[in-house]
Amino acid sequence: MGRISTTLPVLGGEMSDKRMIKIFDTTLRDGEQSPGGSMNHEEKMQMAQALVDLGVDVIEAGFPIASPDDFRAVKEISENFQGAEIAGLCRCNDQDIDRAWEALQHADAPRIHVFLATSAIHREFKLNMSTEEIIENAVEGVKRAKGYCDNVEFSTEDAVRTEMDFLCRVVEAVIEAGATTVNIPDTVGYATPAHMGDVIKELIDRVPNAGDAVLSVHCHNDLGLAVANSLAGVEAGAGQIECTINGIGERAGNCSLEEVVMAMRTRSDFYSCDTRINSQLLVPTSQLLTRITGLEVQRNKAIVGRNAFAHEAGIHQDGMLKEPTTYEIMRPEDVGFDKTDLVLGKHSGRAALADRARSLGFDLDDDQIRSLFKQFKILADNQKEITDADIAALIERHLASAES
Ligand code: KIV
Ligand code: ZN
Repeated sequence: MGRISTTLPVLGGEMSDKRMIKIFDTTLRDGEQSPGGSMNHEEKMQMAQALVDLGVDVIEAGFPIASPDDFRAVKEISENFQGAEIAGLCRCNDQDIDRAWEALQHADAPRIHVFLATSAIHREFKLNMSTEEIIENAVEGVKRAKGYCDNVEFSTEDAVRTEMDFLCRVVEAVIEAGATTVNIPDTVGYATPAHMGDVIKELIDRVPNAGDAVLSVHCHNDLGLAVANSLAGVEAGAGQIECTINGIGERAGNCSLEEVVMAMRTRSDFYSCDTRINSQLLVPTSQLLTRITGLEVQRNKAIVGRNAFAHEAGIHQDGMLKEPTTYEIMRPEDVGFDKTDLVLGKHSGRAALADRARSLGFDLDDDQIRSLFKQFKILADNQKEITDADIAALIERHLASAES
């Protein structure tokens, strides 16, 4: 545990000596395939530009064989965007892999992402394959992808529910076949942080060639643990996190990019890790996705929610006015908000009212604030949200009645 500081880290400064974690964004693939997440072609291009600007390392642009739209998106993103690796997803068969390469071939930095389920449940009920067949198929898939491109990721779908001995065998075999990244998905959001950390640690300890590939985590949020599980994976040694803007994705979603990035940055004393993300673009990127999909983020969502830097309670507002680090662990500007929002409502105190009056251009003395505060409380009891216009009108009425 690091020392508790009242000085917030300066973001976007000099190159850090921290371990750099790759951010693999799958908003356009895992996010887009979720209910309510669909985007048209132009919207996907807008999102791709925003992701490049944000500084993600990998953009998973789609699943080329899934539909002509997906193919076109992966192809055009590959042809038109530089500055990030472009990945296309495929199942572990020749047609999928060939189609993925057709879409990716003109990218500056293409990545073929092959997946195959490894858990007993998937082997028995979905694939009807033995463990030996899984290994054979996985190795063949990686080798075929490797014939096209050096940068090959293999995902062991439902890894977290896979027997550990078997998972180690699969990971060793796909690295031996040439996989440069091996992704360990918690496909159904079943893991807990300690569990996820143990899986990654055991893979690093037991797979002899684990050091030859980047281990990645891909956590779903069914138990609300996707961010915590991803962080536990990183703590145990994973070098890549797969995530989405606003955490959109199948069912309860994926690991939220903005949360996991700001957790590593704000608690760099603990994680000793960083990413290339330009955090000032987190809020604009989140808002762009909301505008495109119509999927609103909850008001109290960490980092990008409307309340993330808003304070209404009088004690908190008083503390914030004295020293922002009393109640904020990040600066709103560092994630792309203009400033902290001291919301005036029935829980607010005199300090916040005086501050707002000052910022609206009224120079009131202590007595005036005291009597104004009584009227403000009556208004606040009757009105949920109080705007600057309400405050200005209240002050003007108050000053006029004092004069008459
Ligand atoms: O959740 C999952 O397992 C996936 C894989 C295809 C990576 O999305
Ligand atoms: Zn997924």
